[in-house]
Amino acid sequence: MNVITLAGSPRFPSRSTALLTLAQRWLERQGINVIPWNLFNFSPEDLLYARFDSPALKVFNEQLAEADGIIISTPVYKASFAGALKTLLDLLPERAFEHKVVLPVATGGTIGHMLALDYALKPVLNALKAQEILHGIFAEDSQITHYDRDPLLSPILETRLTESLGTFARALERQAQFNAAETSQRATIPSN
Ligand SMILES: Cc1cc2nc3c(=O)[nH]c(=O)nc-3n(C[C@H](O)[C@H](O)[C@H](O)COP(=O)(O)O)c2cc1C
Repeated sequence: MNVITLAGSPRFPSRSTALLTLAQRWLERQGINVIPWNLFNFSPEDLLYARFDSPALKVFNEQLAEADGIIISTPVYKASFAGALKTLLDLLPERAFEHKVVLPVATGGTIGHMLALDYALKPVLNALKAQEILHGIFAEDSQITHYDRDPLLSPILETRLTESLGTFARALERQAQFNAAETSQRATIPSN
């Protein structure tokens, strides 16, 4: 099973990215292959000027096509997800998340904006044809410390993260089986 993590914060160190680092460790312990990506892997000009021929974007799209799931994290900015992340999502193919399980993750300064995942990010994931979008994880800043070194989560957040990753791993298994069946079916249909 292959998973991509995409850190959507334009800043580093970053609380939302720290959650992905912990998620990656957890998934790898379950034997799941994780490829971490973040916005710094792309040239800012390529994102800002919508360069669809960006070399990094090509690699990202190739790896995304092979993935069964993706975890996307973002800080809440102005009651929505980060604009820098949107510049990347805008460049993805229309069906980029088809046949993938998606787990959205957000961190914010106030619990008042915890629905930003639902009203802002999830519609975009839908537009990219995500197969299954799981309940997201929202964390308040105070729940994540030491995110510049070895991130420490509040016990409530740690439990929430582990439970969500368990759900993600189970959904991933179903999706990976479906994707493998699709691939082998395609291989048996002669092309003309
Ligand atoms: C420009 C900017 C706008 C922000 N807007 C909000 C907001 O509207 N609501 C909120 O809860 N937090 C807001 N925050 C706080 C961040 O969402 C929060 O600190 C987040 O954890 C940062 O994530 P990061 O460390 O991964 O970049 C904002 C922070 C910045 C820098």
